[in-house]
Amino acid sequence: MCGIVGYVGPTQNGTASDVVMEGLARLEYRGYDSAGIATLDGDTVAIRKRSGKLINLRAEIDAHPLPPTTTAIGHTRWATHGGPTDNNAHPHRGGFDGRLALIHNGIIENFHSLKTRLVDTGVSFSSETDTEVAAHLVAAAYERTGDLTEAMRAAVAHLEGAFTLLAIHADQPGVVVGARRNSPLVVGLGEGANYLGSDVAAFIGHTREAMELGQDQIVTITPTSVSVIGFDGTPAEGKAYHVDWDAAAAEKGGFPSFMEKEIQDQPHAVGDTLLGRTDAQGRLMLDELRISEESLREVTKIVIIACGTSSYAGMVAKYAIEHWTRIPCEVELAHEFRYRDPVVDQRTLVISLSQSGETMDTLMAVKHANELGALTVAICNTHGSTIPRESDAVLYTHAGPEIAVASTKAFVAQITACYLLGLYLAQLRGGAGAGQVQQVMRDLHDIPAKIETVLGRMDRVREIARFMADTRSVLFLGRHVGFPIALEGALKLKEIAYIHAEGFAAGELKHGPIALIEPGQPVFVIVPSPQTPHDLHAKVVSNIQEIRARGARTLVIAHDGDDDVVPFADEVIRVPECPPLLAPLLTIVPLQVFACELASAKGLDVDQPRNLAKSVTVE
Ligand code: F6R
Repeated sequence: MCGIVGYVGPTQNGTASDVVMEGLARLEYRGYDSAGIATLDGDTVAIRKRSGKLINLRAEIDAHPLPPTTTAIGHTRWATHGGPTDNNAHPHRGGFDGRLALIHNGIIENFHSLKTRLVDTGVSFSSETDTEVAAHLVAAAYERTGDLTEAMRAAVAHLEGAFTLLAIHADQPGVVVGARRNSPLVVGLGEGANYLGSDVAAFIGHTREAMELGQDQIVTITPTSVSVIGFDGTPAEGKAYHVDWDAAAAEKGGFPSFMEKEIQDQPHAVGDTLLGRTDAQGRLMLDELRISEESLREVTKIVIIACGTSSYAGMVAKYAIEHWTRIPCEVELAHEFRYRDPVVDQRTLVISLSQSGETMDTLMAVKHANELGALTVAICNTHGSTIPRESDAVLYTHAGPEIAVASTKAFVAQITACYLLGLYLAQLRGGAGAGQVQQVMRDLHDIPAKIETVLGRMDRVREIARFMADTRSVLFLGRHVGFPIALEGALKLKEIAYIHAEGFAAGELKHGPIALIEPGQPVFVIVPSPQTPHDLHAKVVSNIQEIRARGARTLVIAHDGDDDVVPFADEVIRVPECPPLLAPLLTIVPLQVFACELASAKGLDVDQPRNLAKSVTVE
């Protein structure tokens, strides 16, 4: 939610504005309601900003070029306070002379009272944003202190809420100052140049050396230095790390969209997440988990918290974790968990799932779990992000950067990581689950090749999707681990194709949803593997017959060799045979491809769907 870039360095390899525009292009997935840039131009600040996507800002800069300069900040916005207009676009100027420019990600909760006070002192506002309040506060503090770092420190003392702020001042060429509270900001360490970004994608084209910042810290970068202090003024140190992917990973690489690329990348996302997790004897080792084995053995309850697609990964994982560990496992939307009174204690393991590691709802829920004394583990795809830092331990997924707003490869990587954690707990605790660990690990290692097989069979799914471009409603049915896949299939279609879609538990059909079935209604059915216990396969085949009898058009996802579905399916989409608990890693793929192809057939921007942003850093 909002992408932020800052740069200071030499002008010889293109100007600061080129570097910042490149960073904004890589961060545009974080928000695309408007974009803007501020650079130093002699002893003034030059600002260009435009509502709409980055392409509009590019046109504005082409029409009114920016001067070569060493210092720039840029912003791509997901609107919160104030509509997506030119005026509300960042950067905002601060002070009576407008010699300061500031950009912001997050929400300043007390902006209204601050604004009233500023207006009373004669400050006039040119936007409806909360951000402009921060710009004026920093500018006023600069008037008193003459130092941008100190001015930032003085200003943040008045702010409540979540924010990342970057500021430049016409008096201080070669300096960008940033501050963060509950909102992402990382430093890129270059040679003779330094960078700031909402995530490393902002500067990955220039350096893979990065530095994490802690909560409530202020960073000041010049071309040759990076210094960090706490909001209380005490010196602090960032934690340097190497980014293990390069600029090519954040490019489309010949695919028509990032989403298509990321769908195709899923065999690697699963394979890389499994990599290096077992010792020579085939025992699982999760070295990153910094929680003692003893504490993990004593866990009596597991709660998985997440939002959106990540929560569906958690729902899939629940079936497996309970089966292997016999520990009760709940899955809850993070924003619901946070504001009720959950029964959680020191023997509760709270697992948060987050691709970005920055989702504010999930972050707040993790903090709540920490306050309640739970053990907290983050399963996360983004190194250096906030949720892992706020958790007792982290297990990273290795899906690589996910740029498309609709999550695909991170989802399969999250399920894989949850399975690793579940198996690890089973191994530690002994019992029947421990005996299954090696076999499940072997089965998991077969999954990347099986996903390849599914991907190789998608021609017919694409044809169906194109044929259905005008469809107004699609239903999804699943049972057991197929139920969260039905929910995820529906979410994909809603968010990128803007089609009404709903997922149901197949067993729930007769309790209401079957009333929606009318002649021609398309229904995807995710059929459990015939090996699923309790005859669930047969029950779902009966459900297909029931909806078909009422005129539904049945699009059936079934395992190879499952011929029972054939008489009742208008279309059969095949996935390779696989153990029931691992099937979601395969059955989700046709639904992702279907949504992506259908949205493309409608001429929509699949990577940047309307009203959404990749990283939801406000509650
Ligand atoms: C949907 C999607 C979202 C995210 C959700 C949580 O395709 O991407 O539903 O899954 O916003 O995001 P993370 O995983 O970054 O916490």
